[in-house]
Amino acid sequence: MRISEPRQSPAPGRLDFFVPHLAIESRVTQPDVLDWPDLGGLDDAARLRARVARVPHWFHSFELPGGVWTGGRYRPAEKLHRLHLPHRMDGLNVLDVGAWDGFYSFEAERRGAERVISADLWNPELSATSEGYAVAHSAMQSSATPVRASVHDLDPSIHGEHDLVLFLGVLYHLPNPFEALVALRRVTRKTLILETESDLAYTRRPALAFYTGSELGKDPTNWFGPNAKAVVAMCQAAGFGDVRVVWKMGLPMRLARAAKRARVYGESPVSGHARGRVVVHAHV
Ligand SMILES: C[S@@+](CC[C@H](N)C(=O)[O-])C[C@H]1O[C@@H](n2cnc3c(N)ncnc32)[C@H](O)[C@@H]1O
Repeated sequence: MRISEPRQSPAPGRLDFFVPHLAIESRVTQPDVLDWPDLGGLDDAARLRARVARVPHWFHSFELPGGVWTGGRYRPAEKLHRLHLPHRMDGLNVLDVGAWDGFYSFEAERRGAERVISADLWNPELSATSEGYAVAHSAMQSSATPVRASVHDLDPSIHGEHDLVLFLGVLYHLPNPFEALVALRRVTRKTLILETESDLAYTRRPALAFYTGSELGKDPTNWFGPNAKAVVAMCQAAGFGDVRVVWKMGLPMRLARAAKRARVYGESPVSGHARGRVVVHAHV
C-alpha cells in the first residue's frame, strides 16, 4: 500500500465514514469552497419558511430574518453562554470547524468578525448536509465562506491562519482526536475554543473513554469521551500554551442528563453521571 492511499477499513461499518479523512498524506491543494445556485426570494418570510421546510435535516434551531426559525432539534443560543465567546470579534479572522447549519459562524459575524470561514465535511452519510447552511447563509446575506474540509486536512497554506478557531461538538466524533488538535494548532494564530462531550469525570488522570459501537447516544459516530484533564493535556501536547477549562457541566446537571439518557437511549445511569460537556480555551 502506498502511503498516500486511504487505509482500507478492516470491516465495513463504523470506520467507513472516516476512511477518506484518515489519509496520511492530504491531496487537497486549494480550499474547496461551496457554491450553490441563487436561492432567490428568501427576503420574503413566507417563501423563506417554505424553503426552510424543504431542508430534509436541520441540526441547529435558530431565528432567521422575518422571524422564521430553522428546524433543528438543538437550540445553540441557549448554550452560548457556556462558550465564553468574546463579546465583540471586530477585526478577528474566525474559523468555525464542524459548522453544520452555521449558527456559530453567523454569530461570529454578528459579533463583528472581519472574516469568517465555516468548515465542515457536510457528509450526507453522516446526515450533516450543507443545505441548511446554504439556506440560512442566503437568508442572512452572510459573507462567511463555506469550505468543505476535514479538520485533519486543515493546512495554513490552504485554509489560512485564524485569530479564533471554534471547534464545537466535534472532537468526540473523531476516531483520532489528538491528530485533530494538532491540525487545529497549525491554523490557530491566537485562540481555539473547544467544546466537547466529556466522560470519566471521577478519573483523576487525563483519560478518554472509548465508545464501542453505538454506546453513546446510539450514535456510531461517537468515539471518545475525554475528561477535562485530558482535553487540557491533549491541547498542550498539540502545542497550545495557555489552556483553561472555562466551563464544565456540574454534577446536578450531569445527574439529570444521565437519568434522561437512561430513559431515551438505555444508557447506564451509573456511568452516565461521569458524562457531561466541557469547554476549553486554548491560547497559542
Ligand atoms: C454535533 S455537530 C456540531 C455542530 C456545531 N459545531 C455545534 O456545535 O452545534 C458535528 C459536526 O462536525 C462535523 N464533522 C464531523 N467530522 C468532521 C471532520 N473530520 N472534520 C470537520 N467536520 C467534521 C459534522 O459534519 C457535523 O456538522
